[in-house]
Amino acid sequence: MHPDLERILLTENDIAARVREMGAEISRDYEGKELLLVSVLKGSVIFMADLMRSVSIPAAIDFLAVSSYGMGEKTSGVVKINMDLGQSVEGKHLLIVEDILDSGMTLSYIRDLLGGRSPASIQICTLLDKPERRAKGVAVDCRYTGFVIPDAFVVGYGLDFAEKYRNLPYIGVLSPRMYC
Ligand code: IMP
Ligand code: MG
Repeated sequence: MHPDLERILLTENDIAARVREMGAEISRDYEGKELLLVSVLKGSVIFMADLMRSVSIPAAIDFLAVSSYGMGEKTSGVVKINMDLGQSVEGKHLLIVEDILDSGMTLSYIRDLLGGRSPASIQICTLLDKPERRAKGVAVDCRYTGFVIPDAFVVGYGLDFAEKYRNLPYIGVLSPRMYC
């Protein structure tokens, strides 16, 4: 285990097994539909790479880059689009692929933004959900959730703290001494 971590929450095997299940479910639900997987950079990049290989139906991919946390651990509440999609989403079935749902502000912003561009449908797929952290008045409906986790700051498998730890192959709880 990386020395900056308090404990491992999800092993490589835990993640791989769940991602395979999610891919199979998505493949069943979107059979015969024009599916566009939209990965929210940078945190979802590893999840997206694994998930798309577990999807057995034709699927296009695109990327959206946003920032909401700055360099720290708490949300600033402001979502900034750093890179937009490279294509029109009109008439397509969009599945937004995100690493973690925390306050919900990032996903509710993205869902409203893309929902306004006339897709055929729009749903959310998040690897992790911390429901205890949801901001007041923010409701985000996720069609696919990998794991519901406790209120702890986690890193690895794409998730960062100040741009570090994204390359860890598992998900662990960051030791609070790293940000206190
Ligand atoms: P929200 O807008 O508060 O839901 O935050 C969503 C974004 O915050 C995610 O896409 C992550 O980039 C980041 N985030 C939230 N919680 C964590 C965490 O525990 N570890 C790493 N990043 C997190
Ligand atoms: Mg982040």
